[in-house]
Amino acid sequence: MKYALLANPGHNRVYFEESKKLAAAELELALPCLSVPCGDILPAQIGGVYYLTFSSEAVLTASDLAILSRLSFVYAIFEENMREGRTAFFPCEMENYAYIGEDIGTILKYTGKTNELFTRMMINCAVFASGAREFTGKRLLDPVAGKGTTLFEGLVYGMDVYGVEIGDRAVAEACRYLQKYLQMGKYKHSLKTERVSGAGKTFTAERRHLELARGREEAKRGEYRIFEMVAGNSCYVNQFYKKSYFDFLVGDLPYGVQHGNVTNEGQTKLSRSPAALLQACLTAWRDVLKTGGVLALAWNVNVLPREAAERLLESAGFTVLHGGVYERFQHRVDQSILRDLVLARK
Ligand SMILES: C[S@@+](CC[C@H](N)C(=O)[O-])C[C@H]1O[C@@H](n2cnc3c(N)ncnc32)[C@H](O)[C@@H]1O
Repeated sequence: MKYALLANPGHNRVYFEESKKLAAAELELALPCLSVPCGDILPAQIGGVYYLTFSSEAVLTASDLAILSRLSFVYAIFEENMREGRTAFFPCEMENYAYIGEDIGTILKYTGKTNELFTRMMINCAVFASGAREFTGKRLLDPVAGKGTTLFEGLVYGMDVYGVEIGDRAVAEACRYLQKYLQMGKYKHSLKTERVSGAGKTFTAERRHLELARGREEAKRGEYRIFEMVAGNSCYVNQFYKKSYFDFLVGDLPYGVQHGNVTNEGQTKLSRSPAALLQACLTAWRDVLKTGGVLALAWNVNVLPREAAERLLESAGFTVLHGGVYERFQHRVDQSILRDLVLARK
């Protein structure tokens, strides 16, 4: 069998061009999660349009198509067949997986925002690298959450999402935006805010906890999803959350360049340098991740080379996923940012 995936042109042309190689890598990580052996990933121009094609040893099942539907670049899936001596494309049924409107991650625009499709790709890569096929109800933490792009994308996947962000204003804005979005969409929701502090006032932070359900019926059945943000320093994450609380950690580290920070405040050295941040936080991040859980981090290799990032991860007790596809995520974002993605398992 042969399949062709039509790539979503996305919201950003520059990102689309760079994302072609990321798409192939994301697909390569997804294929082992399908129920039949697949391979031969190839780019193709079909009718003048860009596709990624691959072969499979048997017809894909509905749950395989559900996995492919979630890939960040996939717009449509076709099964390729011969009809009357010519190649014909048959559209496959995509899964409508979105728990909440997919526009939730695209409406807010601000300097330093992580591209939503890239963010979705990071979440997918973390899930596939862990060997999981399920997203719904899994706990996802972004330890450097900014104004919540990872959390919004995780919510689209039906995950329970948590973020830690040092900038209080970014946290307040993300939560205000979500509340407005939920009000307009008539979701059932409630917000609780509490102060958190460490023993002997070593730190103080503020936790905003939102529970949401898509209507009265889900609320009655107690089917709530969680969106929570802590305005505080990520190095204390193991004091905000229990050990082994999260299935996945996904984050886009500060870029170490002028516009790489979305908080507009408290721009300490720590929040600028990814190396200092990793040194201060990785042990705590490891504590709150489940054994077998995966951490996916994006960062600017111009300010922290990949080998140095890997060394920091290994010395904090993570197992970095090396070689092959795991080293095919590097791409240019702009003149000063050459971004990479590292995946590491606890
Ligand atoms: C590249 S931005 C993340 C952007 C985010 N993905 C978004 O789209 O809004 C990195 C974030 O890490 C935050 N940060 C830096 N140091 C931190 C720390 N020690 N604890 C928590 N957050 C921190 C910065 O304030 C910044 O918002």
